[in-house]
Amino acid sequence: MITTQKVRDKILVTQPVLPELEKVNCVLEKIWGSKWVTNMGQYHNILGERLERVLKVKHVSLFNNGTIALLTAIKALNLPQGSEVITTPFTFAATPHCICWNNLKPVFCDIEPDTMCIDADKIENLITPNTSAIVGVHVYGFPCNVRKIDTIAKKYGLKVIYDAAHAFSTEIDGVGIGNFGDITMFSFHATKLFNTIEGGCLTYNDDSLVRKIYNLRNFGIQSEELVEDIGINGKMNEIQAAIGLLNLDIFKDEQQKRAELKLFYDNYISEIKGIRIPRMPLNVTNSYQYYPIVIEDDYPLTRNELYEKFKSMNILTRKYFYPACTDYECYKNDLTVKLADLSVVNDLKNRVLCLPFYGSLSKNDAAFICGVLNFEI
Ligand SMILES: Cc1ncc(COP(=O)(O)O)c(C=O)c1O
Repeated sequence: MITTQKVRDKILVTQPVLPELEKVNCVLEKIWGSKWVTNMGQYHNILGERLERVLKVKHVSLFNNGTIALLTAIKALNLPQGSEVITTPFTFAATPHCICWNNLKPVFCDIEPDTMCIDADKIENLITPNTSAIVGVHVYGFPCNVRKIDTIAKKYGLKVIYDAAHAFSTEIDGVGIGNFGDITMFSFHATKLFNTIEGGCLTYNDDSLVRKIYNLRNFGIQSEELVEDIGINGKMNEIQAAIGLLNLDIFKDEQQKRAELKLFYDNYISEIKGIRIPRMPLNVTNSYQYYPIVIEDDYPLTRNELYEKFKSMNILTRKYFYPACTDYECYKNDLTVKLADLSVVNDLKNRVLCLPFYGSLSKNDAAFICGVLNFEI
């Protein structure tokens, strides 16, 4: 056979971490045999217990996805109707949407240039008598300034919720990231390092939240004849939980492969003028969820031009988070958004690019990506 020019396969930006199909088939047989496919089954309960240990937290409540989990976290804290919740616009749509779905008003705060998380030094200026909570996002797994946010929350009597969708297994000084604030949400979506295809959880230390969150996740049904609250259906089913248990056995291996890939990228990219690699603080363990780079003015291309260049070469990258939430039709016309100082967000949303990042990305492909960045290809 005559081979013509070799066509490079598309390089995806991410790939789901999936357990071996034979192992999935094996647990599916067991679930089918038990006929218990959802509603707090045995896989669900075992996964919750194992996650308490992996995440080093007191309580884990599992959910069918991270968005319903976050919605429930905000609901569980009984914030006054219509009150203001300070949050970041440099996040996925679900974060501010969950605030609005709870009939609360998101007030957007600027972010820090280094971590790209909510800027704790700018929070106090936004606090009014109507402020009831802060929702921080540990974006790309970089932790928010949890200690400063805690001090502010105590001073003003605010609740704190963290969106840790990107920060599975991250620790600050050996403390699981799910221990900070009142409640933390993790997403187990297929794109996440640890996934249950769709899924998520809440973590918290307050024992009194166990029953509240159980009820809110299960239509308010506490027992056969007792409906205690106006709950939603947020339950994780047995198939999701079983996939989660299998993935718990392999996520560390994936993390290790990503750590090696990060080292490879770091070594290469740190030599390229005009590209900044955000650095994880030394006391924080990296979750290895994303590999973001920041395109500075002295790089020959803008972020958008670089994105297009990659695309033309069949390499998919992500302008994560462009647009910022404050650019969405549903938020941009709010007076507080129009008046807000969001200078760092509005700069970084045009500079950040997430590169392909997953354990099965070959060294060859990673080198090709670096070559494109460095104008060698
Ligand atoms: C920062 C952030 N928050 C919330 C979510 C929503 O989680 P889920 O997709 O599990 O509903 C995601 C993404 O998936 C996210 O990236």
